[in-house]
Amino acid sequence: MRRRLAAGNWKMNGTAASLSEVEKLLQAHVSPSVEILLCPPATLIAQMNWKKGQHPLALGGQDCHAEASGAHTGDISAAQLRDAGATFVIVGHSERRTDHKETDEQVRAKAEAAHEEGLVAVVCIGETLAEREGGHTLDVVSRQLEHSVPEGATGENTVIAYEPVWAIGTGLTPTSEQIAEVHQALRSRLSARFGADAAFFRLLYGGSVKPSNAAEIFAIPDVDGALVGGASLKAADFSPIIAAL
Ligand code: G3H
Repeated sequence: MRRRLAAGNWKMNGTAASLSEVEKLLQAHVSPSVEILLCPPATLIAQMNWKKGQHPLALGGQDCHAEASGAHTGDISAAQLRDAGATFVIVGHSERRTDHKETDEQVRAKAEAAHEEGLVAVVCIGETLAEREGGHTLDVVSRQLEHSVPEGATGENTVIAYEPVWAIGTGLTPTSEQIAEVHQALRSRLSARFGADAAFFRLLYGGSVKPSNAAEIFAIPDVDGALVGGASLKAADFSPIIAAL
């Protein structure tokens, strides 16, 4: 029912020389049941879109402004991302929430802007280590889900990425039971809010996904794919993760 999704977030990595990694990725055998999304730096989206229609790779931005245009130096709008070839955009990544002090309300406004442009919003949520150790994980992710996901969200225009902040780029991952607990709670909260459509939302796990742990993570109920950072930069790492889906 839900098409599985392997999403790569290159963060602030990659130059034109990195396009060779995309070529390698596209040469790997990929099942049509899996959707592959790459979110490179915005500078590379148009260049990656050079073979539009000839490959199954979806492209996404890593952030967008809540407004469509205007005097916002250094920002990028959902319309500009779409113009460059993106069909997705990540919003509310923990690095944006931390580095740029983004609030749930700002994240929701960005997701709404993405939806207005026809982009799929990948809304990121996740607890810090202190919040997990304090026993607040489900409260935190439920609050983020409630306030970061707009009313107009559907399983078509929105993907939820659960990324424990303490697992990002650290090599640490939650246990399968911990991931399952959060994903089941998220599905339940989505059901309470969106009714039967909750079944269509894809829930990704993110945080130190690598070839050696991908299969175990993808076997967890209600995990529909992954948002991969470091291991998405090289085709040699990302291909086996995609293959494990
Ligand atoms: O967006 C991706 C996540 O932040 C995960 O990053 O796979 O390098 O831990 P990571």
